[in-house]
Amino acid sequence: MDEKTKGIIIAAQGNLVTVRFDGTIRQNEVVFVKTGGQSLKGEVIEINGNEAKVQIFEPTDGIRYGDEVVFEKDLLSVELGPGLLKRVFDGLQNPLEDIAEAAGYFLKRGIYLPPLPRNIKWQWNPTAKVGDTVYKAHFLGWVPEENIKHQIMVPFNFIGKGIVKSIAAPGEYTVEQEIAKIEDEKGNIRSVNMINMWPAKFALRFGERLLPTEQLVTSQRIIDGPFPVAKGGTFCTPGPFGAGKTVLQHQISKYATTQIVIIVACGERAGEVVEILREFPHLDDPQTGKKLMDRTCIICNTSSMPVAARESSIYMGVAIAEYYRQMGIDCLLLADSTSRWAQALREMSGRLEEIPGEEAFPAYLASRISELYERAGVIKLYNGEQGSLTIGGSVSPAGGNFEEPVTLSTLAVVGCFLGLSRQRSDARRFPAIDPLISWSKYGERFAAHGDDKMKERIKIIEKAQKMIIESDDIGKKMSVVGEEGISIDDMVTEGIAGLSMDRQNEQLGIISKVLDKNFKFDDREKARNYFLDLTDKIIQLNYLPREASIYGEKKQEILNMIEGE
Ligand SMILES: Nc1ncnc2c1ncn2[C@@H]1O[C@H](COP(=O)(O)OP(=O)(O)OP(=O)(O)O)[C@@H](O)[C@H]1O
Ligand SMILES: [Mg+2]
Repeated sequence: MDEKTKGIIIAAQGNLVTVRFDGTIRQNEVVFVKTGGQSLKGEVIEINGNEAKVQIFEPTDGIRYGDEVVFEKDLLSVELGPGLLKRVFDGLQNPLEDIAEAAGYFLKRGIYLPPLPRNIKWQWNPTAKVGDTVYKAHFLGWVPEENIKHQIMVPFNFIGKGIVKSIAAPGEYTVEQEIAKIEDEKGNIRSVNMINMWPAKFALRFGERLLPTEQLVTSQRIIDGPFPVAKGGTFCTPGPFGAGKTVLQHQISKYATTQIVIIVACGERAGEVVEILREFPHLDDPQTGKKLMDRTCIICNTSSMPVAARESSIYMGVAIAEYYRQMGIDCLLLADSTSRWAQALREMSGRLEEIPGEEAFPAYLASRISELYERAGVIKLYNGEQGSLTIGGSVSPAGGNFEEPVTLSTLAVVGCFLGLSRQRSDARRFPAIDPLISWSKYGERFAAHGDDKMKERIKIIEKAQKMIIESDDIGKKMSVVGEEGISIDDMVTEGIAGLSMDRQNEQLGIISKVLDKNFKFDDREKARNYFLDLTDKIIQLNYLPREASIYGEKKQEILNMIEGE
């Protein structure tokens, strides 16, 4: 049964080919199509009798009737181990830099290189001992990889209880060298190296799942103040074209307090990835002082690369992030954009002639999206440590209309919604997150878990949000009937809400004072001037360094101004 199953191509439609095979195969198995001296990678997506539908991840020109197809028995897998950080992979986990070196800068199809570097020697520090009882995903030892202790784990496909029979002495080893021997319950001895394989489309999670109760600081005020994101939670940033989704994701990837960031550039412009590659090696990580690139791994399947590999690119990214979480590390996965990924699903579904759902997306779109975000979460490992994976996806609905299947399905599953608005980005108020539509479910959860500061903050946020919504209505009224047409009370509401909401705690304190104050003015002129002045002062406060003494003076000036009125 060790013989690989073979078949021939009998039909092709775009990158979907039909293969007649002889033997046994299974769903999601990897195949190689031999054509014109090249081997093209693909995946089984439908089996019917002795015919299988296979999606090919590469351009398929030149494929002919009768071309040979080999079924590899393995599912589409991701290779895990030390050496993933700092690197750039494509949607099939090909290391792009290595490919450029081996085959030139213009990617040719049919070239696959091992994802993990085979020549690097890692400094191995064993922690398990001969005679220890271990299960899958238990730690055997670690190697230093950039800023983290990269734990080498018992293979994820190890079944049942194992006994460590031998463990390599401390020293330098490559990923392919043996670092342990483990005996399973049946008495078979298995040689273990640093490489762990995992089928990318399945969640990699061993341990107890916990509720996310800690805040992930993104360092963006409008997020951390009113719409907090949880470590191990999910968020999405839908927005019309050019509203700043990509820039926002880059900002978060730079400044979020997390140990590892995986960026999946899915169907977006290649130039944006180039920007990261140019910028990150020069930027310092504010937490460690080392370079940002040291904690980053990029999976890119840009708009110029084959659509089929887009689908797998997100799964590759998530599986890598889950792998690091399994070591007790905080990870953040950013996917830009999940709409392009959904389009890849739609394209394939169309070729398979499935019954289409809304806007021709497949009927299983919502379940695929929720399966993806489900993979986020906090887990408690067997040794009591905790790891987390936060997933943030951008969504680009056509025309900025949020009433479309991808946005709606995403909103149904995420814990925090940061909606970008065209109006704000046109006014160049970046990040263009609109407080009128955005929400987060995490604030209340943090408060319920004993975060008292958060309890206070929620009250202010609720008050402020109510005020902003009222003000929005008044603003609309004002644009029709003019300032004369509204009452002074309404003008006060409008003035208060015009104050910049997106400030952190201290500023929230100031704003809370403004909200609590019962302002009275005798004429419009005064009210207008007062709020113009106050808004300006509060904005100016932002430009002052908090340590500077002038900051304290200016803050006091504002407080006096509020008290005095
Ligand atoms: N935080 C920001 N600060 C300053 N300028 C910004 C910011 N965010 C976005 N911009 C401006 O908006 C432009 C578009 O942003 P971006 O590329 O992120 O939009 P996008 O929503 O990703 O667009 P697309 O839908 O085309 O992918 C940027 O080139 C930049 O000029
Ligand atoms: Mg973009």
